[in-house]
Amino acid sequence: MTTLILAGNWKMHHGPASARSLMDTFLDGYEPHTGREVWFFPPAISLADVARAIEGHVGLRAGAQNVHWEATGAFTGETSVAMVREAGGTAVLVGHSERRHVFGETNEETAKKVTAVLAGGLRPVLCVGERLEERERGETEPVVLRQLDAALGGISSRDWTHLVIAYEPVWAIGTGRTATPGDAAAVHGTIRAWCESRGAGARVPVLYGGSVKPSNVAELVAEDEIDGVLVGGASIDAESWRAIVRVGLD
Ligand code: PGA
Repeated sequence: MTTLILAGNWKMHHGPASARSLMDTFLDGYEPHTGREVWFFPPAISLADVARAIEGHVGLRAGAQNVHWEATGAFTGETSVAMVREAGGTAVLVGHSERRHVFGETNEETAKKVTAVLAGGLRPVLCVGERLEERERGETEPVVLRQLDAALGGISSRDWTHLVIAYEPVWAIGTGRTATPGDAAAVHGTIRAWCESRGAGARVPVLYGGSVKPSNVAELVAEDEIDGVLVGGASIDAESWRAIVRVGLD
């Protein structure tokens, strides 16, 4: 059985105090379930607080939303992999569409970040996805494959088991528009086939992201190809997040 991964990307919401209060509310009555993990991606400044809050809980993980590939140096405003680890993080989002399209991150930078995260012993969650005009031109598949080739070209055979991929169509992020479960599953199938063709022995978890909410999460994770979800807006409120992580349990 594959593990269901429910990951929340808080984006630029919740500083340390509100992160602690959200975690208190979320953890009050939270029960772990076999085969299910809940991952939190708070802003870097709140990571240590979230990591501390989940200490001793089974199936919970905290991570960073971004990282720099260098270990130390004159990189004002950046965070290294070792710093994420020291703060208690064990995963990092890499190449999120806001990093790519708002901050101009290139495929080459994304590749360097994946390499640094893996070298530092953390789990990269590589985000890929096409923009609306690319989907309308029928280019979803080549765009996603190009992003995979660029970011994962140098991955070594032992790294596959640490990798997570999130398919997030850019037009579905924060817009209220979700890919249909069938459309998402088709792209997930393409991603999985690419991983297998590059020598991934084990199944690489492929998450779906883009306007996931309590009302649509069940039909998405019902697809065999969808191993979990990466959730933005609906993860920053404890009640909607609790509803999402309980998908299929009630
Ligand atoms: P959204 O964001 O759920 O608010 O659409 C998803 C993401 O950006 O990871």
